[in-house]
Amino acid sequence: MPDPCFLLEKCLGLSLSDRYWIRPVDSGLLWEEINFFDNPFSEDMGDILFGKGSGNGKISLMSPDNTSDGWLKKKWKIIDGKRCLIKGGSEAAQQEPYNEVFASRIMTRLRIPHVPYFLITEENYPYSVCGDFVMQDTELITAWRIMQTAKKTNHVSAYRHYLDCCSRLGIDGMEEAMNRMLVLDYLIVNEDRHLNNFGVVRNADTLEYIGAAPIYDCGTSLWFDKPSRMISARAKVNCKPFKNSHEEQIKLVTDFSWLDIFALQGIEDELREIVRDSAFIDEARCEALCRGLSGRIDMLQEAACQSVYQVFVDNTENDVTENIAYSGAGGPKGQEKRKSMND
Ligand SMILES: Nc1ncnc2c1ncn2[C@@H]1O[C@H](COP(=O)(O)OP(=O)(O)O)[C@@H](O)[C@H]1O
Ligand SMILES: [Mg+2]
Repeated sequence: MPDPCFLLEKCLGLSLSDRYWIRPVDSGLLWEEINFFDNPFSEDMGDILFGKGSGNGKISLMSPDNTSDGWLKKKWKIIDGKRCLIKGGSEAAQQEPYNEVFASRIMTRLRIPHVPYFLITEENYPYSVCGDFVMQDTELITAWRIMQTAKKTNHVSAYRHYLDCCSRLGIDGMEEAMNRMLVLDYLIVNEDRHLNNFGVVRNADTLEYIGAAPIYDCGTSLWFDKPSRMISARAKVNCKPFKNSHEEQIKLVTDFSWLDIFALQGIEDELREIVRDSAFIDEARCEALCRGLSGRIDMLQEAACQSVYQVFVDNTENDVTENIAYSGAGGPKGQEKRKSMND
């Protein structure tokens, strides 16, 4: 295939994140008989992405994996009748799947709406598994798309622009939802919350916005690509999507009153339990992660206390100006490099 775009045609543009599709003229095809939410799909593409052959040599490209976004290896699979996304890890620690599961546990404790992730292990490698949060009649609209609905003037901060766009589209509760996401990302030092890693959910029939999407894709956090000795609560790491440092980004949170920091007591034990049988995270790394996390909890508490005395400042200083997804070693990944957020 000369271009990955052709993959889209091969699966009629069908995915498990929205309900748009390509209906060839005169095909007579109906959504009911073709959509992946209700009908089986091929796992050939997913198997290939996971480094397996397609078995009998014949490949069916009727798969939601043709259109998957992101950079980690992943595949959709029907497990017990449920559509599930299986994602692998990267680099020496293979830490992303553990992080997804651990972030779910943190969000359960803090009552933050999220996509629950579970862990599976295959041939010693960890994978995270989550259900599809997009239903038959809904669709995910990413923050990047929301931010294209109006032109951002240069003196308006990226964060203000996002909230303004949401409010213009009549999406309720966004400030509350963003307060929660920003607190979580500060806590787990998420390095890759780019503008396609969060968003809103819309009714695909009425085009009515329902609200913030549950939080997903938290794998690129907790010093996932750092050697164990470099793990520390104050280690310098990347920050997205609004400010280029976590210290600045946490200042965007307008309300911490919902945050029950005591609900996190003993959370390190959950991390120990999640990585206990890992072939990739040894005890030294696990303990370094626990120490780092406990430091982040203290720092979050400090930030929450300080916010009482701080005047909320909303300006473009330290704004992230480009939405570029993490691409592992080797710099920005072409297909995910987006236009600058200004203009
Ligand atoms: N649980 C889910 N339900 C529906 N769509 C999802 C779900 N998780 C991810 N997606 C979609 O798949 C894309 C890739 O998944 P993501 O978890 O972001 O992978 P990566 O870690 O490789 O970036 C997301 O940007 C989103 O569009
Ligand atoms: Mg992603």
